[in-house]
Amino acid sequence: MFIFIQSSMLKFGSFLIANLLSSNMQATVIDPADVDGLESALNKNKVSLFFTESPTNPFLRCVDIEKVSKLCHSKGTLVCIDGTFATPLNQKALSLGADLVLHSATKFIGGHNDVLAGCISGSEKLVTEIRTLHHILGGTLNPNAAYLIIRGMKTLHLRVQQQNSTALRMAEVLEAHPRVKRVYYPGLPSHPEHEIAKRQMTGFGGVVSFEVDGDLMTTIKFVDALKIPYIAPSFGGCESIVDQPAIMSYWDLSQAERSKYGILDNLIRFSFGVEDFKDLKADILQALETIA
Ligand SMILES: *Cc1c(COP(=O)(O)O)cnc(C)c1O
Ligand SMILES: *[C@@H]1O[C@H](CO)[C@@H](O)[C@H](O)[C@H]1NC(C)=O
Repeated sequence: MFIFIQSSMLKFGSFLIANLLSSNMQATVIDPADVDGLESALNKNKVSLFFTESPTNPFLRCVDIEKVSKLCHSKGTLVCIDGTFATPLNQKALSLGADLVLHSATKFIGGHNDVLAGCISGSEKLVTEIRTLHHILGGTLNPNAAYLIIRGMKTLHLRVQQQNSTALRMAEVLEAHPRVKRVYYPGLPSHPEHEIAKRQMTGFGGVVSFEVDGDLMTTIKFVDALKIPYIAPSFGGCESIVDQPAIMSYWDLSQAERSKYGILDNLIRFSFGVEDFKDLKADILQALETIA
């Protein structure tokens, strides 16, 4: 059996692939924009599944879900989209043609940084197969976690609206700022898949990645100068969260290995919460002043 994986979260992707290989599955990794690469992999192999995040972590790359689904379906390949960064409100992957969509409910769906959960949706046939396997493997949500998810979801549309709006406005402010080198956000015309994102998303979500002008220590100084966000690796909650991948999610890799994945020392992943836009803007601007 062949499995085809696409993820820019290559570090974790590699881990997943290692596990797949140990269970006699094979995987090919391609760049999110590489439709030719996808086509040739589909032609060369009997591919059972195409898997990708869209947008991806941490550079918010977007995959043309409609195009990729048509291509995969013509070869009998299933398409699974991890839509965690988009939320189910901003992107309807199933309507765009995907067979399965999964979300980390830990993030926007739960929305309060206080519960771990996930969900997968698709046709009854596919979900029944997954459910049967899930019953064997375990991993059942406890009643209190389920309650927190139900409670959190009541405000999902309000939180996402605010997070969409704050993130887009701040992405524009950051892109124009002299202490910021580069901003990664699908809502910006500078993003490589901006046109795709505009077509398949109604909002671009609450996470913005950017590189400040400076080295590892300068970036640490910037993060420490922020007063509103928590320093943590998650995202999607009411409270803003700031992450410096080089010393957090990718801390165990050397600088050379990190740069293979494009993770520079000055990269920041910022998850905008539901705080007032003016307060967040003032906080980020004052922190950027400290590295001027
Ligand atoms: C966090 C995350 C996951 C894993 O979710 P958990 O709920 O933390 O296990 C999967 N996919 C994406 C895109 C994520 O950001
Ligand atoms: C997300 O925000 C954008 C911009 O404010 C808005 O156009 C869109 O409707 C929002 N989507 C949701 C689901 O709130």
